[in-house]
Amino acid sequence: MARLFRRGAGLCALVDGRPVGYVVFQTEGPVREVYLVEVCPDMRRQGLGRRLLEAAETYLLSTGAQCLTVDCTSPEGEALARGSGFTGPESQHGPGVPYTHTPLKKFLTDWRPPARDPWA
Ligand SMILES: CC(C)(COP(=O)(O)OP(=O)(O)OC[C@H]1O[C@@H](n2cnc3c(N)ncnc32)[C@H](O)[C@@H]1OP(=O)(O)O)[C@@H](O)C(=O)NCCC(=O)NCCS
Repeated sequence: MARLFRRGAGLCALVDGRPVGYVVFQTEGPVREVYLVEVCPDMRRQGLGRRLLEAAETYLLSTGAQCLTVDCTSPEGEALARGSGFTGPESQHGPGVPYTHTPLKKFLTDWRPPARDPWA
C-alpha cells in the first residue's frame, strides 16, 4: 500500500483499526485521475468501495478538482464507477473476450476543458 500511495494521495478505510480498503488519486490539476480503489476480499459488497470513492470525490472537489477520471481494470470496478456517476464508452468484454480496461470520467462542476485549437 505504501508503494501505491507514492503515486499520489489517498484515503484508507479502517474497521476496528484494520485497513480494509483504499483509494489512491492524483492531487493536482483540474482533471484528476483516480488510480485505484480496492477493498479487502472479505469486506467486499458492503458499500465500502462506494464510500471510498465518494470520500475521494468530496476531498478532490474541496481541493479544486473539476473532473475525475478512472481507468477501470475490472467489471466490478466499472460497475462501481458507473454507479457513482462516471460515464464513458461501453466496455467490450464477454464470453471469449477478456476484460481489459475502460476509461470513464465524471465532471464535478460545470467546468469543461478548453477546446483544442486545430491550428496550434
Ligand atoms: C471494485 C471494488 C473496489 C468494489 O468494492 P466493494 O466494497 O465491494 O463495492 P460496494 O460494496 O461499495 O459496491 C458498490 C457497487 O459496485 C458494484 N459492484 C461491486 N462489486 C461488484 C461485483 N462483484 N459485481 C458487479 N458489481 C459490483 C455494484 O454496482 C455495487 O452497487 P450495489 O451494491 O448497489 O449493487 C472491489 O470489488 C475490489 O477491490 N476489486 C478488486 C480491485 C479492483 O478491481 N478495483 C477497481 C479498479 S477500477
